[in-house]
Amino acid sequence: DNPYPTEIREYLYKILVIGDLGTGKTSIIKRYVHNIFSLNYKSTIGVDFALKVIQWSPDTVVRLQLWDIAGQERFGNMTRVYYKEAVAALVVYDVTRPKTFEAVTKWKADLDSKVSLPQAWGGGPIPVILLANKTDLQDEASTSLDPAEMEKFATSAKDNNNIEDAARFLLTEIMATE
Ligand code: GTP
Ligand code: MG
Repeated sequence: DNPYPTEIREYLYKILVIGDLGTGKTSIIKRYVHNIFSLNYKSTIGVDFALKVIQWSPDTVVRLQLWDIAGQERFGNMTRVYYKEAVAALVVYDVTRPKTFEAVTKWKADLDSKVSLPQAWGGGPIPVILLANKTDLQDEASTSLDPAEMEKFATSAKDNNNIEDAARFLLTEIMATE
């Protein structure tokens, strides 16, 4: 490999972060992008944005535009607008609240009905990873089954557990699809 590549390839990807209220979407993004965490809860209004720049390889830079969508937006009319041109999504639930796991299939259905990959990429459903968040609060015995078609990562924004790995896995999927 040439350590001084003359031509740098750059990619920009829009990634959605969705899931029910208070599951930890904003916390996961803040941990991933700024490596910070707070136990204070400030519910997201509408949508927030964050940018993560990754040196994927010596000659490849990837910019992830993260769309942090408020949990309450599942009941609003804006998700179609927010989902537009996204190429992947993270769906987050809270392992301490089973209702947020039940909502995962609703988020996935909402997603698949409103966005798909560009035709040039085959036009199929966008890749999705399920994040089982707040594992730092979970007792060992309680686990949940995965909905089909999703790879699951057990995460903690608090303990910084598995978030980088999940993002890397998702990015590998995207790069393979493109
Ligand atoms: P909305 O914006 O309302 O949809 O919520 P959200 O999904 O963005 O949740 P947010 O990141 O704001 O987190 C909600 C609460 O859970 C906050 O008090 C966080 O500190 C807490 N939290 C998030 N992730 C974790 C985690 O991994 N472990 C623990 N113990 N608390 C967490
Ligand atoms: Mg939020």
